[in-house]
Amino acid sequence: MVPSGTLEINARVFEMRQNGEEIVNLSVGEPDFHTPSDAKMGGIRAIAENRLRYDKAPGLMELREAICRKLKNENGLSYTPDQIVVTNGAKQCITNACLALLNPGDEVLIPAPYWVSYPEIVKICGGTPVFVETRREHDYKLTGEDIASCATPRTRMVILCNPSNPLGTVHTREELEDIAKVCAAKDIYIMSDEVYERICFAEEFVSMASIPEARDLTILINGLSKSIPMTGWRIGYTATTAEIAKAMGALQGHITSHPSMVSQWAGVAALDHCADYTQMMVGEYRKRMKAAVQFLREELPEAPFIEPQGAFYLFIDISCVREKMEAMPEASGLYSKDFTMKLLNEKHVAVAPGSAFGMDGFIRIAYAADLETIMEGLRRIRDLIREMMKENR
Ligand SMILES: Cc1ncc(COP(=O)(O)O)c(C=O)c1O
Repeated sequence: MVPSGTLEINARVFEMRQNGEEIVNLSVGEPDFHTPSDAKMGGIRAIAENRLRYDKAPGLMELREAICRKLKNENGLSYTPDQIVVTNGAKQCITNACLALLNPGDEVLIPAPYWVSYPEIVKICGGTPVFVETRREHDYKLTGEDIASCATPRTRMVILCNPSNPLGTVHTREELEDIAKVCAAKDIYIMSDEVYERICFAEEFVSMASIPEARDLTILINGLSKSIPMTGWRIGYTATTAEIAKAMGALQGHITSHPSMVSQWAGVAALDHCADYTQMMVGEYRKRMKAAVQFLREELPEAPFIEPQGAFYLFIDISCVREKMEAMPEASGLYSKDFTMKLLNEKHVAVAPGSAFGMDGFIRIAYAADLETIMEGLRRIRDLIREMMKENR
């Protein structure tokens, strides 16, 4: 395993804060909203009423039923509770699925840029990550052709992050159908990580599981960390075939059993009562995204990006400073990492380097902060890039 590519930045942020320095932090992939009261009350009631004993390993029946209702009402998907496994955050879904489906040496296609934990989880589970290069002309979105050109007889699974962390892109129905067709022809499982599904500014969000050809090949990953701000409660869930869910539930029974009962009861309340809260939050993200996009287009045309359609990230191309960064005596070979550190040291702004997501030459900004903080961070990024480009002339 390699340590997280943002670890060094986080350590430096910590050190600088300890020294009393103020940091504009746009590196964190966590909603800045609090858990809504209805969800909290669901957990509090469970404690007061002593609903705290061991329960079924794949998750509380009431929660799995609430998840089935959500999938039916929001996504038009019919699942039964035996096809759902509730986990300690979406991370555990991904791990469970890899443990259940991968044999040693099985290859897993991971399109770059990717969420930092995918390759490491695949390796932990004995699989071999195979990185798929995506193309600018497709907004760096995975295509069926990309899969076809990288697949081998050992390819067992592809991981799709939709909406994407770090890109903020959202696949259309046609794009999903294109991927599904190739995966169905080659019998490749599709792990579709949809944790940012509700944070979507596109006209519609289409789940991979709603593409008929993909339905039985899909391991749908979702959770409550991002869609309802409940990161610390650790509730994720998988929807898939009963056979795969059974294997994942059995594994989980031996490893962690079900997640905390308090969190699961909070999850029931969250899914049944917090849709308005999510809508409010998404409205805020949209405002921030629009303001950030306008600023960057007007003030920093040298650093292009794809206008996000979902999640709360902007992935910005900083290749305009490449030469300058690579000429630095202490250059590490990953210039997005070096730039990120320079930005932190000189302008006190923390962002994540593209190298952590398998794509050097970019930085990821999370707009899960208030508008003022975001704009201040962007102004300082503009200033640094402008200063560097001026020196170049
Ligand atoms: C794409 C993606 N998948 C999964 C996760 C994990 O979420 P959870 O907090 O539910 O484990 C994250 C968290 O940052 C994420 O960005």
